[in-house]
Amino acid sequence: MQFSLTEEQLAVQEAAREFAQQVLKPGVIERDTKMEYPKAEVRQMAEMGFLGMMTDPAYGGGGMDTISYVLAMEEISKIDNSCSVIMSVNNSLVCWGIEEYGTEAQKQKYLTKLAPGDWLGAFCLSEPEAGSDATSQRTTAEDKGDHYLLNGTKNWITNGRSSNVHIVMAQTHPELGHKGINALIVETDWDGVVIGAKEDKLGIRSSDTHTIMYNDVVVPKENRVGADGFGFTFAMEVLNGGRIGIAAQALGIAAGAYELAVAYSQEREAFGKPINKHQAIAFKLADMATEVEAARMLVYRAAWLKDKGERFDSAAAMAKLYASEVAMRQTVEAVQVHGGYGFVKEYHVERLLRDAKITQIYEGTSEIQKLVISRNILKGALYQPVM
Ligand code: CAA
Repeated sequence: MQFSLTEEQLAVQEAAREFAQQVLKPGVIERDTKMEYPKAEVRQMAEMGFLGMMTDPAYGGGGMDTISYVLAMEEISKIDNSCSVIMSVNNSLVCWGIEEYGTEAQKQKYLTKLAPGDWLGAFCLSEPEAGSDATSQRTTAEDKGDHYLLNGTKNWITNGRSSNVHIVMAQTHPELGHKGINALIVETDWDGVVIGAKEDKLGIRSSDTHTIMYNDVVVPKENRVGADGFGFTFAMEVLNGGRIGIAAQALGIAAGAYELAVAYSQEREAFGKPINKHQAIAFKLADMATEVEAARMLVYRAAWLKDKGERFDSAAAMAKLYASEVAMRQTVEAVQVHGGYGFVKEYHVERLLRDAKITQIYEGTSEIQKLVISRNILKGALYQPVM
């Protein structure tokens, strides 16, 4: 067993940490307050190679492993979760999806722009009446011979306005249920694509989450990803990888809150000594450190399994389920360690607390993760411990 990171992985971690601290931190409170999209920061993330980290360099990506991606997500999520969700969707849902399942022509046309971050992508599965129940797609992709006619509404779409490309799941053969769904690559400037208003959210406030309407959008057949009817399997497989990204985001939130709590507890004095010399706070820090470390092990292990080409759906679901719960618990604790200061924006922990909640919701709620894990257990496709 190896618990050490390679020199390359350590270098990625260091670069992401420095970027988050120096570039993202200075404006993060203002962007969050004003719900201001981090345009310049996303451009810089592209220049740093953070938007297509795992993609083959032949298509403009970084050719890195999933562990490196997770390390970068963790560092960026300690500071700015609007930036890390933008990064996560582009890396794991869009670039990875096209690289793994797209045609060579799709890779040449789209991946070469998406992986270097010249373009951004969005993943459009959720609908007003199909969130957790994702097989109930109402959006339709009518087969018109050489093209599909796309109609419907998607919501909660990250990168909704800033993206150039959407991967849209839509029903072509309703009689086949989820086996009739297709995944289509749609360019956002095509006729009939209408972007709704930006959502005013509890957390990740500067990321652009929108409802999208597709009204008679003509999508060429060559933009279908995979075989006819492959769209739901595509979405599920892509989300397995996406869940590692969100698990890493949750880990970063928890770790960031913990680090802030440790730093504050060293500076702040009460009853004649630093508050971390009081057992009430010291034991809180011990619990926080233990939970953060446990979450880290699950997240890194899910990434490691993916890199080894092994089955990782349960591992990703476990990592996301646990890390997001730890993010919620530890951000609450970090605010408590800060006392009144934790309740105001300047000390960053209140933002992390607000950001933590979404990690229990998007890319499959905690309840859906439990469904994935338990179904695998009951199917006998048992989660296999490596030890
Ligand atoms: N990996 C691979 N395949 C999976 C899978 C997984 N994790 N979960 C389900 N599937 C497959 C099943 O094996 C089945 O395939 P077959 O028919 O070929 O056997 C198929 O999907 C349908 O599954 P079920 O029969 O179990 O259908 P269900 O309706 O009972 O359950 C579900 C499906 C697991 C609940 C699924 O709908 C689901 O994952 N829902 C959550 C959707 C989700 O995560 N949405 C996130 C939106 S994207 C987002 O948030 C991005 C963003 O912007 C940040």
